[in-house]
Amino acid sequence: MNKQLRQAVIAGNWKMNKTRPEAKALIEDLKPIAANATCGVVICVPYTNLETAIELTKGTNIKVGAENVHFEKSGAFTGEISADMLTEMGVEYVIVGHSERRQYFGETDETVNKRTKAALNAGLKTIICVGEMLDEREKGITEEIVGMQTKVALLGVTAEQLKNVIIAYEPVWAIGTGKTATAEQANEVCSFIRQTVAKLYSQADADALTIQYGGSMNPKNCAELLAQPDVDGGLIGGASLKAADFGVLLEAASK
Ligand code: PGA
Repeated sequence: MNKQLRQAVIAGNWKMNKTRPEAKALIEDLKPIAANATCGVVICVPYTNLETAIELTKGTNIKVGAENVHFEKSGAFTGEISADMLTEMGVEYVIVGHSERRQYFGETDETVNKRTKAALNAGLKTIICVGEMLDEREKGITEEIVGMQTKVALLGVTAEQLKNVIIAYEPVWAIGTGKTATAEQANEVCSFIRQTVAKLYSQADADALTIQYGGSMNPKNCAELLAQPDVDGGLIGGASLKAADFGVLLEAASK
């Protein structure tokens, strides 16, 4: 069973939520709940919460990630944060190419590729988000879109670096909408991404790659989604903001 060749990872994506005291409270609640998880546990938090999160999760199984990273090493890029700034703090993960960055902040496949390379070169574990819009699914071009996003994001990424990559399949129409892809739809696209990666690298590399599903995953639908052969965990928005809900997802991914 190929699923055993890779680790399931549940990553929270807090987005623009939680002040520092709120972050502290959520992490304190999460620590005992996450302690028994055998899946990977990651919380990607706003920059302002990184230091708090790193401090509070020391010695636990919870890893900390940022939600974005700039591709240049340093310089006149007002408002941006570099990969070195993150690693120096002890940040281990970063999300790149989230659909909200693509939709609202002009992120393109090319900038996703640049951010991916900068993050990997700095030693960050990189969660690359891909996913089609509703009209693209309706036009029947989901595979073309997701295939292109995957290929361009990975341009120049070596097989060795791929070991630090997670791909998150997040259909844009399912994010924050309460509409989840069916387990079959999620598995179909995750499996397609794996085949795409197998062609670019090797079957063994593709079999070892963690591919998450994201988009309204919650305590009710997680068991079915996470049981799919090509779904290795999830990238979780709304349900990562409540420790009890996140805990149900961790338990499901630890089976
Ligand atoms: P959601 O967000 O779980 O709230 O749909 C997922 C994401 O955007 O990563």
